[in-house]
Amino acid sequence: MSKETLSRRTFLKVSGTSVAATAAVIVRPACAAAAPPAAAATPQTSHTLLPYLAKTVASAGQMTQGTPLVFSYPDAASPCVAVKLGVAAPGGVGPNQDIVAYSMMCTHMGCPVAFDSGTNTFKCGCHYSMFDAEKSGQMIAGQATENLPRVRLSYDDKTGRISATGIDGMLYGRQANVL
Ligand code: FES
Repeated sequence: MSKETLSRRTFLKVSGTSVAATAAVIVRPACAAAAPPAAAATPQTSHTLLPYLAKTVASAGQMTQGTPLVFSYPDAASPCVAVKLGVAAPGGVGPNQDIVAYSMMCTHMGCPVAFDSGTNTFKCGCHYSMFDAEKSGQMIAGQATENLPRVRLSYDDKTGRISATGIDGMLYGRQANVL
């Protein structure tokens, strides 16, 4: 290789690096200027974050093991069910932390799920999905890909009142649980 070729290569490398560095310097302030300040960020419009209202569901004394209690939450279009499992469960309330509640709408296509007290599972008759009521509604089998939404419960040990206070997971067919 000639000395002239080497110096031309060197020139191209150096000038190329300089151009890239200059471009980075020019581009960076432009990006920084385009980003809105955190305080002025536009609100998310793809979903709402409206608060849940508490709703009395049952009295712990009226719950018997294996007998589901149907209610609606957070609105009339959302059927839910509370069950007394007989064993303590995550999020369980009541004297034995064994009362839990879930949405009754299967996360696959919204069919109603039925409680099986023999296995403490919820079963969907449409395409045979199963959800574990002892493990926060974890999907066990079937076509569903999401766990069964769990209704958060609170328990007043003075009155025995059980209230629904929120939902973990998205109700079937919704973009927001509270409409
Ligand atoms: S709707 Fe429940 S498994 Fe399909």
